[in-house]
Amino acid sequence: MKRKLSISLILVLTIFIGYYLYHKQRPVPIEDVFPGKIWAKPIETLSDVKGVGAPTAKNCGTCHVEIYEEWKLSTHANALSDIQFQSELAKPTSPKWICLNCHIPIQNQRETIITGLRGGDYFEPIQIPNPQFQKDMQEEAITCATCHVRMDHDSNESYVIGATGGTSPPHPIKINREFLQNRCNDCHNEMYTLNQSLVCSFQTGTELQSTQSKDNCVTCHLPEVSRSFVKPSLHRPIRKSHKHGFIGGGVPKQFSLYKEQIRLGYKSGLVLSDIKQDKNKMEIRFLNKNANHHVTTGDPERFYSLNIKGFDISGKTIYNSEVKIGQEWEWYPEAKKTKDNRISSGGEYIWKLDLTSVSETIVTFQIQAIHVRLKGITSDYMSKTADQVPYPYRDKVKQIKQFYPHSSIVLETIYEPKRNLRRDTPLKELFKRNENRRGE
Ligand code: HEC
Ligand code: HEC
Ligand code: HEC
Ligand code: HEC
Ligand code: HEC
Repeated sequence: MKRKLSISLILVLTIFIGYYLYHKQRPVPIEDVFPGKIWAKPIETLSDVKGVGAPTAKNCGTCHVEIYEEWKLSTHANALSDIQFQSELAKPTSPKWICLNCHIPIQNQRETIITGLRGGDYFEPIQIPNPQFQKDMQEEAITCATCHVRMDHDSNESYVIGATGGTSPPHPIKINREFLQNRCNDCHNEMYTLNQSLVCSFQTGTELQSTQSKDNCVTCHLPEVSRSFVKPSLHRPIRKSHKHGFIGGGVPKQFSLYKEQIRLGYKSGLVLSDIKQDKNKMEIRFLNKNANHHVTTGDPERFYSLNIKGFDISGKTIYNSEVKIGQEWEWYPEAKKTKDNRISSGGEYIWKLDLTSVSETIVTFQIQAIHVRLKGITSDYMSKTADQVPYPYRDKVKQIKQFYPHSSIVLETIYEPKRNLRRDTPLKELFKRNENRRGE
């Protein structure tokens, strides 16, 4: 009787443990854990494109020379070699495969294929080697094919997606402008929290939609230019083309890219629309004139620092003040937005200053707007924890202040109250200066 009881007890226990282990180990399809999330899976393996070969940017670039050269300078092309990305990716708390689904989104770019999540746990992807892995394509990050190449499942061949029509390419083409233009939202309009920590928080598409403007991302971030789509030796007509530099907030991923920002279409979203002074009261207005979304709109750690300095007759600083335009987040114990004073499209920030405490006369003011991508204290932490970053990025992360632009001065105005005179520093001059700033 006693023996029977203990046997059944052991049996029950075994079933229980067995079930528990099975449950923890069983592969769960990714789509069951992240239903409807486009970024939960990479784009399926793309086969060679007829007339092109492997769907790499390098191959597209043999004919689309200028577009390739512009894209190569973009943040998209630098999305994997980005040392801030590498540093954040290396954190033990990063669900790496999810990050990579937006930063290197095509299966050809991945060393492994993820067949499921062990027990549904996103820190336990089940991975097998990917026989079709293309290292050179991996380095291209958000490459041409991310937006332009897909598989046709009837013929099992890949094709290029275009927007113009009436062209005669040597490769298969389907025209679908809407697909190309809406593609941006797949990555730039997503907010997701995993296990209390934030994976991404971008609402650019929603912000744009709420302005009810007819503009789309392409209007501003792929500015129009008249030219042939391909190199001159192919004798194709001049058409309406688009610059592929994808310029954003004017803080490039390398110092050497500063000199390309203006040529490829950089414009600050904010303008300094008005300065008023009445005795000890001063009012400065910043208008979001050029962006049809919030400024700032990207990563939640980005912000604008507005600052003002007042100088006396000898040039000594006798007044200064600073204000931050952006979001504030609390990361522990869980990710939570605590403040948000970003400027919406067409919106204004009125900065009111009280100069009562200044006893001497301020002869000139210097007013600046600085777009900050990475704070100095955050990058200090990144260089301290660089040992967890893999080669070849580790050494650069160690010296991140040397290699990674943290912020850019995008507006500067010198104001003389006595004569009510205002002089705006040309953007070209500011970007020359930005190229030489380090760790700010
Ligand atoms: C061997 C040369 C060559 C290569 C390689 C090539 N293209 Fe093209 N592509 C062309 C030509 C020629 C046209 C037509 C231009 C015209 O008629 O104005 C074209 C047109 C296009 C168009 C515009 C079609 C439209 O009507 O909107 C897109 C988009 C495009 N190519 C993308 C790509 C991508 C992406 C790759 C790489 C996967 C690529 N091409 C590789 C030569 C090439
Ligand atoms: C597959 C995901 C993906 C798609 C699709 C995508 N982007 Fe991006 N985009 C990114 C990522 C990731 C970055 C940032 C990379 C980094 O900082 O390392 C980025 C950066 C940018 C930037 C640069 C921001 C800056 O200040 O440097 C702009 C502008 C931009 N994208 C616009 C667009 C537009 C316009 C489209 C649609 C035509 C688009 N993106 C489609 C993922 C994507
Ligand atoms: C992030 C998405 C994205 C990436 C990456 C991208 N393109 Fe485009 N491409 C677009 C969009 C959007 C259009 C314009 C659609 C329209 O006409 O409104 C476009 C247009 C084109 C055209 C038609 C001509 C023109 O300039 O309008 C060609 C050719 C082209 N792209 C080639 C390339 C090549 C080659 C690469 C890589 C070097 C590339 N694209 C990378 C989104 C992208
Ligand atoms: C009317 C023009 C306009 C449209 C439309 C527009 N943008 Fe922008 N965008 C800008 C300007 C200007 C900036 C620079 C803002 C600044 O830093 O002052 C910018 C900045 C950005 C940045 C850099 C991050 C940041 O916080 O500054 C990203 C990413 C971006 N835009 C993505 C998009 C996407 C995606 C769309 C479409 C959903 C889009 N933009 C539509 C003008 C536009
Ligand atoms: C849904 C797509 C998506 C996912 C998932 C994603 N990102 Fe991004 N990431 C983006 C886009 C879009 C940008 C560009 C916005 C910008 O430039 O501010 C970006 C920008 C960045 C930047 C540059 C920020 C800046 O201000 O320059 C870093 C670093 C980064 N991502 C790290 C990560 C890490 C780490 C993960 C995984 C935990 C991750 N991302 C997951 C889409 C994504």
